[in-house]
Amino acid sequence: MAAPQTLWVGLALLGVLGGLRTRARAHVSLQPNFQQDKFLGRWFTAGLASNSNWFREKKDALSTCSSVVAPREGGGLNLTSTFLRKDHCETRTLLLLPAGPPGCYSYTSPHWGGTQNVSVVGTDYVEYALLYTEGTKGHGQDFRMATLYSRTQTPRAEVKEKFANFTKAQGFTEDTIVFLPKTDKCLEEHK
Ligand SMILES: *[C@@H]1O[C@H](CO)[C@@H](O)[C@H](O)[C@H]1NC(C)=O
Ligand SMILES: *[C@@H]1O[C@H](CO)[C@@H](O)[C@H](O)[C@H]1NC(C)=O
Ligand SMILES: *[C@@H]1O[C@H](CO)[C@@H](O)[C@H](O)[C@H]1NC(C)=O
Repeated sequence: MAAPQTLWVGLALLGVLGGLRTRARAHVSLQPNFQQDKFLGRWFTAGLASNSNWFREKKDALSTCSSVVAPREGGGLNLTSTFLRKDHCETRTLLLLPAGPPGCYSYTSPHWGGTQNVSVVGTDYVEYALLYTEGTKGHGQDFRMATLYSRTQTPRAEVKEKFANFTKAQGFTEDTIVFLPKTDKCLEEHK
């Protein structure tokens, strides 16, 4: 398959050329003195921004999903999310392994094999958390995502503004940012 190969090589070259610029912008700061135990429990994904084409196409059809963060034996976190897909609720667990300083985790996708770094950029633990994800997603593609976690389905305007400011600082354009509408589906308590 010549075309995907060429595409991959092209993307890899772009990655090299764009490397310095990406690094300069992407070194997001982490929540100082991050306390993992306070970050645990249930969060709602209230806002998203991503450079992924899939996301750009689907974002208007997405609604809030609920996630539960639990500590894993031996370190790291289990991030269990429940969302509506084809009229039924699906649950996925992502395994986040500690990667470097507190608040920084890595996730390896069993589907694409790509590795992503997930950083908790800022949180007050009781109301909101700002997450930044970057990595490769198959074919060497550069994947970037910002997530707003909220303890309630309806974050305050100030929290939404904080997220909007953060996404813009990370170079996401207006059309790649979405605040997810509230839903009453798939929100039953996790065991
Ligand atoms: C974390 O998730 C894995 C895989 O789904 C599961 O086997 C394990 O029991 C979970 N651990 C905790 C502490 O929830
Ligand atoms: C993830 O973080 C590790 C350690 O902080 C770093 O070496 C690696 O390059 C990062 N990977 C990506 C895809 O950003
Ligand atoms: C968002 O950015 C604007 C302009 O820099 C600033 O005035 C405002 O206080 C910021 N809002 C929040 C919630 O951080």
